Amino acid sequence: MPGVFQMSIDEAIKECETLKSLGLYSIILFGIPDVKDSVGSDALCEHGIIAQAIREIKAAHPDMFVVTDLCFCEYTDHGHCGIIDTARETVDNDATLELSAKQAIVHAKAGADMIAPSGMMDGIIVTLRTALDKAGYVELPIMAYSTKFSSGYYGPFRDVAESVPSFGDRTTYQMDPANRREAIAESIEDEAQGADILMVKPALAYLDIIRDIKENTSRPLAIYNVSGEYAMLKFAGREGLIDYDRVLMETMIAFKRAGASIIISYHAKEVAKLLGH
Ligand code: PBG
Ligand code: ZN
Repeated sequence: MPGVFQMSIDEAIKECETLKSLGLYSIILFGIPDVKDSVGSDALCEHGIIAQAIREIKAAHPDMFVVTDLCFCEYTDHGHCGIIDTARETVDNDATLELSAKQAIVHAKAGADMIAPSGMMDGIIVTLRTALDKAGYVELPIMAYSTKFSSGYYGPFRDVAESVPSFGDRTTYQMDPANRREAIAESIEDEAQGADILMVKPALAYLDIIRDIKENTSRPLAIYNVSGEYAMLKFAGREGLIDYDRVLMETMIAFKRAGASIIISYHAKEVAKLLGH
């Protein structure tokens, strides 16, 4: 993925300096541990890569808003977003909920400013809200990956994050791109469970869904401009096929026009520069 790298914690701290100079004060963290196992132990440990990263980044940059992606696919050796029921060779939704609550507390204790569960498990929002409240983190917001499609646009990310599933695919927990009604219902459901921010992911091929959800919910709506979308623009720009800056801004405007309040994007630094920061 051009211009996108795995970073050490030291590099991430330096990157925050650059981001702030561009007026960017929020980041979302994805952890890639040295050792992966069947239950994603690194994600459950207070000395795991993410816990350590949150602590060190917040110590160096208290003014940086640190969001954590909460999932298991980068931490498990099988690459799925949850714990596997080995007898049935599927993700065990309820076992995953239990461990997700643990992971959320690890993030909270380390100092995360917002938790963003991305695994698409049923009941995840109410589970995390209850667990966080019980542990005293009543003010800690949850950004739900509420409408997340099973998408070919995630290809480059899985490569960078080393999270390609070792068997099967994610269609049992991610959503069918053809199903508009379910897409809307999933975000309404997460709002009812207590999500503070909703999300549509990917963005570009789902502008209609962004608008639908905007009109049917009252939480701020984030969109995730994913790796495949980024890569398409990058490679077309490099080949001189499109006016890169122009198409980039046109794309960002489309997200806003569709109803996005928050844009999560690999283009963030480029956009900040184009906006004159
Ligand atoms: C999985 C996760 C994915 C992305 C971030 N976290 C999708 C997936 O692999 O199914 C995709 C991000 C991107 O493509 O930029 N929890
Ligand atoms: Zn995942």
